[in-house]
Amino acid sequence: MKNIRRLREFVIGMTRLVQHPGNIELTLLRDAGQLLGELIANDDWLPDAFATAHHAHHQEYLLHCDPLGRFSVVSFVLAPGQKTPVHDHTVWCLMGVLRGSERFDEYRHEGEGAPMQKTGEHLCRAGDIEVASPAIGDIHVIANGRNDQAAVSIHVFGANIGGLMRRTFSLANGEPHALVSGYANSLLPNLWDRSLEAHA
Ligand SMILES: [Fe+2]
Repeated sequence: MKNIRRLREFVIGMTRLVQHPGNIELTLLRDAGQLLGELIANDDWLPDAFATAHHAHHQEYLLHCDPLGRFSVVSFVLAPGQKTPVHDHTVWCLMGVLRGSERFDEYRHEGEGAPMQKTGEHLCRAGDIEVASPAIGDIHVIANGRNDQAAVSIHVFGANIGGLMRRTFSLANGEPHALVSGYANSLLPNLWDRSLEAHA
């Protein structure tokens, strides 16, 4: 049985955080990071439909979007050997690895015509959390850290990320391209049916 209640409790906790007036980004990221750490501490709640890799490209499944667009929660799936393009978010983001491992490469955009400058590299394993935001740098590549299994991470963004106008960048010359990523799924997981727990 999938313990979807873990995701419900995370969504409830995040909703409380974002409605707190004056919750500045630093405090929000600290508190949201604690909630995300608790969510990814157990790999028994994500329905398989939201953890399925695609052979040609990574998948981003929407798990929940705040009605006021204050945050969204996405499961991010990389097949063995897959990686994203260089891209930005334009809003804060927490990325927690649920399954497998991911390499997180940070880049700096030095203007069109100049190659993207790599500024950092981290290998994240299950339970690890990465942070990105325009204030601290949010241009990066995420790659599956392994060649023999899919990687699944849970991303929390400070907006309805699939609807934002964002950018990908050419590694070779920094040329930007417009991106509105959307989501791989048209149906959402049902977090709100408590009958199974009531009968347990
Ligand atoms: Fe990203």
